[in-house]
Amino acid sequence: MCVLSLLLFSCTKEDYIQFHVDNPEIKIAIPLDFPEVNQAFYKNKPTQYGVQLGKKLFNDKRLSTDNSISCASCHLQTSAYADNNKQAIGVNNAIGLRNTPPLQNLAFMDFYNWDGSKLSLEKQAIVPIITPEEMNASIGEVIEKLKDDPEYTELLIKAFGDEKMTPDRIYKSIAQFEYTLISNNSKYDKVMQGMAVFKENEKRGYAIFKNKCVSCHSTALFTDQSFRNIGFPINENSNEAGRARVTGNMEDYMSFRVPSLRNIEYTAPYGSFGQFNSLKELLDYLDKGVIASDNLDPIFKNNNNRIPLNDDEKLDLIAFMKTLSDKTFTHQEE
Ligand code: HEC
Ligand code: HEC
Repeated sequence: MCVLSLLLFSCTKEDYIQFHVDNPEIKIAIPLDFPEVNQAFYKNKPTQYGVQLGKKLFNDKRLSTDNSISCASCHLQTSAYADNNKQAIGVNNAIGLRNTPPLQNLAFMDFYNWDGSKLSLEKQAIVPIITPEEMNASIGEVIEKLKDDPEYTELLIKAFGDEKMTPDRIYKSIAQFEYTLISNNSKYDKVMQGMAVFKENEKRGYAIFKNKCVSCHSTALFTDQSFRNIGFPINENSNEAGRARVTGNMEDYMSFRVPSLRNIEYTAPYGSFGQFNSLKELLDYLDKGVIASDNLDPIFKNNNNRIPLNDDEKLDLIAFMKTLSDKTFTHQEE
């Protein structure tokens, strides 16, 4: 039996088929108050080396056609794996259709992307790789570039038992890494666990939130994962139709998945194409009144197309939303 470092250079195929690397499943500490995980998780549980491989791919610029950007170029950890551009900026500074969302608690989501076009993370990863305004590559091209890199060979063997780099293994390992991105260590969480207390303004903000926001931004994820049109300023790009892009149904026109509000402090600008520079701007808009339409969400329709908020309430709401910031998530150690 040979050891792994030798294995890569001097062993025959038979040798490493017999070679056993311990690749333990990573224990994902699932917060008790979180919803059920996506069923795809059970078919692709994160393992030590699967996650390492996924993380390496996530940070590798060679996934883009000109080796200029990685997943992490748009999904920055310090911004809760979002970025601070209005719309995503891809290879050759191409401007994408939409704002980059944070990557957090994705294991618990049933739909991915603003319009819910993908139902599992394993199926999502190909999208940025081939989207012209993002990485503009193909999976074959990526595999050609990476397959002979010894660091990948080693991780592939450890994670999947042999050195073959396949599309499926790329998607699976990236998804495994994404499953580990769990944010539940905010002040809000500590308050819920009785380990901290809200300041007065945060407490008032929470009360307003429960009154005016929680019908959509609900559960411990701060989204009910429904698709709704809430009359935000419209992206004039002819490729945009919101959820209707997926369903073809005009009732879903310009409906978007309710976004989580966790780590919202770090993910400005806001809205599906970065319409709002700040939380204050967004709340001013909700207060002034949103764009009317046939499929405007009833919560707005039945309230004169607005969520009335005075200036003090806005400040309190913002103070509350900032309790959803999780610095151990955005600044955690390697
Ligand atoms: C050019 C910037 C950019 C790059 C590079 C990029 N993304 Fe994204 N990502 C986005 C944008 C924009 C969206 C929203 C897409 C949509 O809704 O149509 C998104 C959405 C996602 C989502 C869905 C999140 C959710 O809340 O549903 C995941 C997961 C994701 N990206 C992972 C990746 C991975 C993995 C890579 C690398 C293979 C990657 N991204 C590369 C900009 C980028
Ligand atoms: C009827 C459901 C609904 C209600 C009520 C609602 N929201 Fe939202 N919220 C959404 C949807 C859907 C979006 C995304 C809309 C879009 O981009 O077009 C959104 C977007 C946001 C965003 C931007 C998130 C991001 O990542 O870009 C913030 C912040 C926000 N809402 C806060 C609030 C607050 C605070 C309240 C209460 C005052 C509230 N919302 C009430 C459904 C709702």
